Amino acid sequence: MITVPTIELNDGTTIPQIGFGVFQIDPAETAEATSRALEIGYRHIDTAEMYGNEREVGEAIRASGLDRDDVYVTSKLNNGYHRPDDARRAFEGTLSALGVDAVDLFLIHWPLPTLYDGDYVSTWKVLEEFKADGRARSIGVSNFEVAHLERLAAEADVVPAVNQIELHPYFLNEEVRAYGEAHGIATEAWSPIAQGDVLDDPVITGIAGRLDRTPAQVVLRWHIQRESIVFPKSVTPERIRENFELFDFELEPGDMDQIDGLDRGERGRRGPHPDRFAYIPS
Ligand SMILES: NC(=O)c1ccc[n+]([C@@H]2O[C@H](COP(=O)([O-])OP(=O)(O)OC[C@H]3O[C@@H](n4cnc5c(N)ncnc54)[C@H](OP(=O)(O)O)[C@@H]3O)[C@@H](O)[C@H]2O)c1
Repeated sequence: MITVPTIELNDGTTIPQIGFGVFQIDPAETAEATSRALEIGYRHIDTAEMYGNEREVGEAIRASGLDRDDVYVTSKLNNGYHRPDDARRAFEGTLSALGVDAVDLFLIHWPLPTLYDGDYVSTWKVLEEFKADGRARSIGVSNFEVAHLERLAAEADVVPAVNQIELHPYFLNEEVRAYGEAHGIATEAWSPIAQGDVLDDPVITGIAGRLDRTPAQVVLRWHIQRESIVFPKSVTPERIRENFELFDFELEPGDMDQIDGLDRGERGRRGPHPDRFAYIPS
């Protein structure tokens, strides 16, 4: 059995450093993929209302026979529900779809500063209610830029436990990560292997060849050594296993530096810029 390191969050809880992401997994395939991940040993699942597969994640957790408390579950508030009453209803919908009394972590999925009169603070205060009543053991944000985090620091009571941001070797997102580190906000790295785009990079394949590991393992190990939390997505059983086998080797400082050197700054970003993203799913 592989022992996964945990990261301590600013509210005293701990989160397994590696989990299983289910973005873009068809609901019809989600229970099977999640079950496979749980069989292999993953104990942390990252879903979202927007992914449309919370129900199937809940099914897989129940079918696993594991205690609810042994699986760390994250979900996120969808973009159409930032107004306080909508957020309260949406959160109840998330708990009911997952079939749980509480989630381990609940996030605002996107800040949407161009919508809702730029008010993500009142949305955050509703997440503070969920934490206070125990239905979210931890609360955090996703895709928040430094200015958004600074505004929460000035206007709200609870500091987010995590910020889930795009981060991979082509986009280190360093300003946001460093702000989190300085303010006790753990960084979760989404698209940790850039949806596969970094796996053919000669720096990565070179290190992988030397260590007799796969390129995905090298990139995920790099994240682990940088103390980010990751949840690679795969529907392929061998990859789900491969992505979890990260704890019997180490990258040397020179390897870490070479991978850091692949950063392309803004050019490396694959997803939308959080300052401009304004998508509301229909
Ligand atoms: N908060 C946000 O806004 C946000 C945005 C994006 C993602 N996320 C979260 O982050 C998670 C991961 O990000 P992601 O799904 O965008 O991308 P990712 O994990 O970087 O990459 C997933 C892609 O890489 C392939 N892959 C996985 N393991 C591989 C391996 N060992 N070798 C080769 N290819 C491999 C997968 O293919 P197969 O599935 O075909 O095997 C899939 O196409 C998501 O599932 C979600 O939980 C959050």
